[in-house]
Amino acid sequence: MFQVGVDIEDISRFENKTQEKDSHFLNRIYTKNELKYCFSNSHPAKHLAARFCAKEAVVKALNGLVKKMPKYSDIEILKKENGAPFVNLLNCNENIEISVSLSHDREKAVAFAAAQKN
Ligand SMILES: CC(C)(COP(=O)(O)OP(=O)(O)OC[C@H]1O[C@@H](n2cnc3c(N)ncnc32)[C@H](O)[C@@H]1OP(=O)(O)O)[C@@H](O)C(=O)NCCC(=O)NCCS
Repeated sequence: MFQVGVDIEDISRFENKTQEKDSHFLNRIYTKNELKYCFSNSHPAKHLAARFCAKEAVVKALNGLVKKMPKYSDIEILKKENGAPFVNLLNCNENIEISVSLSHDREKAVAFAAAQKN
C-alpha cells in the first residue's frame, strides 16, 4: 500500500531557537545530525521548519502502515550528496520505503512525503 502526507509551517515559529536555550524542544524533535545541518546554515529556522514539516508529513503518510508510529526524533531527515533529502527511520524494524521533498521561502516551509509498505 502507498500513502502520502503533507505539512506546512510558519518559519517564524522556529526563529531565534538556539541549541543552548531550546535544547529540550530541539532534542525532542530533531536528531544530532539534523541539528548539525540546520545550525550549520546561516538561517537555521527555515531548515528546522522544513524538517518539522517533513516529520509531520511522514507521520501522515505512515498512518495505518505501521504498528507503532515513530517519535519525531526517530524520523531523521538527511541529505544525499546532491542535496536531495531522504528519510532514515530509526528504531523501526518494519520494511517501509519513504520519499520526502522539502521547500521553503521567506515565510513558509512545506514538505511532502510518500510511504509504502513492502
Ligand atoms: C534542488 C533545487 C531545485 C532547490 O530549489 P530551491 O528553490 O533553491 O529550494 P527550495 O526552498 O524549494 O527547497 C530547498 C530544499 O530542496 C531540497 N533539495 C536540495 N537539493 C535537492 C535536489 N538535488 N533534489 C531534491 N531536493 C533537493 C533540500 O531538502 C532543501 O532544503 P534543506 O536545505 O532544508 O534540506 C535547486 O537548488 C537546484 O535546481 N539545484 C541544482 C540541482 C542539483 O542537482 N544540484 C547538485 C549538483 S551536484
